[in-house]
Amino acid sequence: ALLGIDIGTSGCKALLLATDGKVIATDTASYPLSRPRPGWTEQDPALWIEGVRASVAGALAKAGAVEVLAIGLSGQMHGLTPLDASHRVLRPAILWNDQRNGPECAAMTEAAGGLPALLAATNNRMLPGYTGGKIVWMQRHEPDLFGRMTLMLNPKDYLRLVLTGEVATEVSDASGTGLFDTRARVWATGLAERLGIDPGLLPPVFESPEVTGRLSTDGAALLGLPAGIPVVGGGGDSVIQTIGSGVIAPGELQTTIGTAGILAAALDAPQDNPDGRLQVFCNVVPGKWHCMGVSLNAGGAFSWLRDTVLSAAGGAPVPFATLVDEAAESVPGARGLLFLPYLYGERCPHPDPGARGAFVGLTARHRRGDIVRSVMEGVVHAFGDMHALMATMGIDGRVIKASGGGARSPLWRQMQADLFGCEVVTTEGAAEGAAFGAALVAGIGLGVWPDGDAAAACCRPLTRETPDAAAGAIYRRAHAIYRTLYPSLAPAIA
Ligand code: XUL
Repeated sequence: ALLGIDIGTSGCKALLLATDGKVIATDTASYPLSRPRPGWTEQDPALWIEGVRASVAGALAKAGAVEVLAIGLSGQMHGLTPLDASHRVLRPAILWNDQRNGPECAAMTEAAGGLPALLAATNNRMLPGYTGGKIVWMQRHEPDLFGRMTLMLNPKDYLRLVLTGEVATEVSDASGTGLFDTRARVWATGLAERLGIDPGLLPPVFESPEVTGRLSTDGAALLGLPAGIPVVGGGGDSVIQTIGSGVIAPGELQTTIGTAGILAAALDAPQDNPDGRLQVFCNVVPGKWHCMGVSLNAGGAFSWLRDTVLSAAGGAPVPFATLVDEAAESVPGARGLLFLPYLYGERCPHPDPGARGAFVGLTARHRRGDIVRSVMEGVVHAFGDMHALMATMGIDGRVIKASGGGARSPLWRQMQADLFGCEVVTTEGAAEGAAFGAALVAGIGLGVWPDGDAAAACCRPLTRETPDAAAGAIYRRAHAIYRTLYPSLAPAIA
């Protein structure tokens, strides 16, 4: 079997995959996120390691006797794990959704010679989520700790160090540092130097399916597996889950509704990212690239609505299923109610950590189901916004492959089919998220599948929604109004 491990933001998932592409067993272990100040998010890497131990033990116990042939690693992207010369963790990891370093990112963009120079070097902006700005934040605000830092690793690469003793990353996570030449698939060392970052802090980089080391004695003891099992590069969660949804060819789009909302496509070439509002990264398949828009407000906005607005204080939260049923009884367009979802600031299409949300068009005749529906539709409108940016790069879809917790809702899938005017499918394995993609990439590394296309063929369709023309017309009218809201409201609510 192939073992995929994903250290997410809220927990760790381990997945055992048979070499015929069938999931054998999975297990998860959750851990908390700390918010030491408004806008800051951190996690102690020791939590990840304990989550890995528990979830791998759980999956192995469920699977019974299996032989693990290779391990693939995935995890939340962009997080900064700073290490000293003895590979001790210097401070809690600063995570992807941490918003503290806006000023550093602006200063870095200027030091790089402006946005066009940055795009020439990396094909990406320096977004506050990315690792680069977190390094400079430490340099400015924690100079003592920074002085002791000799290595920075993204979360799954810290796990690799614990499991194998090897220092390595791979092209997809490296892309998310903002310091990587994603066209040439090498570190942008000249850029790092211009920004005052010693390139020696950056780990050696591999292609994602390459073997980067083998399970050490300590790693073997942690996982309850024999030493010597090969560990491949793996990939950042939002890149690796794209192959895990079977999205590899032109014309296929993936949407993910998790805490964040992601619209993604695989590219055959490193296409220019015109003004850097999308993320153009290296794909986990050699010779392919990855384009995505990440909204910080998808399932997270829905959870906020339920927990903060619709549930009685101190009482049990209203079940999601109840709310979705009520939304289904509303109508497309939610009786003229629009929701702008920027509750946690935004990344795409507006790189604005200070962005705010809004309900627009509220009347006393709106019921709870209309409000829930407007939030679900708002998430889909955000995908529409990102899709318009991709269209300027010639990226389009004839099919959407839906994933993440939100893909379990037929209503949410139907909204996407209607607004985009194309079929929406869910695929086998996609519900398992990045751990499934990590196991597939381990299989490519081992030669179980000759290439990405063969691995992606394991993702057979499970459900299919087809577009409704009448609903589509309503959604597209609403979308035209939605697109005017951020520019017109931003000056009023900044
Ligand atoms: C991708 C991103 C998120 C995290 C979530 O750019 O920021 O998808 O990887 O885990």
